[in-house]
Amino acid sequence: MSKLRVCALDDVAEESALGVELDVEGADEPTPVCVVRSGGRVYAIRDECSHQDVQLSDGEVEDGKIECWLHGSQFDLESGKPTCLPAIDPVPTYPVTIEGGDVYVDLRPDMAAGGAKEGHFHTSVGPAAANLK
Ligand code: FES
Repeated sequence: MSKLRVCALDDVAEESALGVELDVEGADEPTPVCVVRSGGRVYAIRDECSHQDVQLSDGEVEDGKIECWLHGSQFDLESGKPTCLPAIDPVPTYPVTIEGGDVYVDLRPDMAAGGAKEGHFHTSVGPAAANLK
């Protein structure tokens, strides 16, 4: 498990998303991660729609879901599962912790390399969200 600082908590407004690319040791290429604040929680989900290769971080956030801007599929931020068509495959989610006002995400090298388009899905191995007090 590789715990990486993603951003400051203040970098992400409530009901919005921030896209970042993380370099994970052992991975061939940076991992696109979308950090989301919604309903007093912080989530991390791969920043790539499972329908086509577009960034989810450019979509709208509401009630624990993020909507893909291109065709409108919504993804549950806790599970990564789509809640409506056209996407049918989940997007990987990652465990999140908040420490000292910073957001950290746990990424294993295989989770970092696994892309939705290749069909390598990984469910999160810990809490996929962090509560804000
Ligand atoms: S690209 Fe996201 S729903 Fe089509």
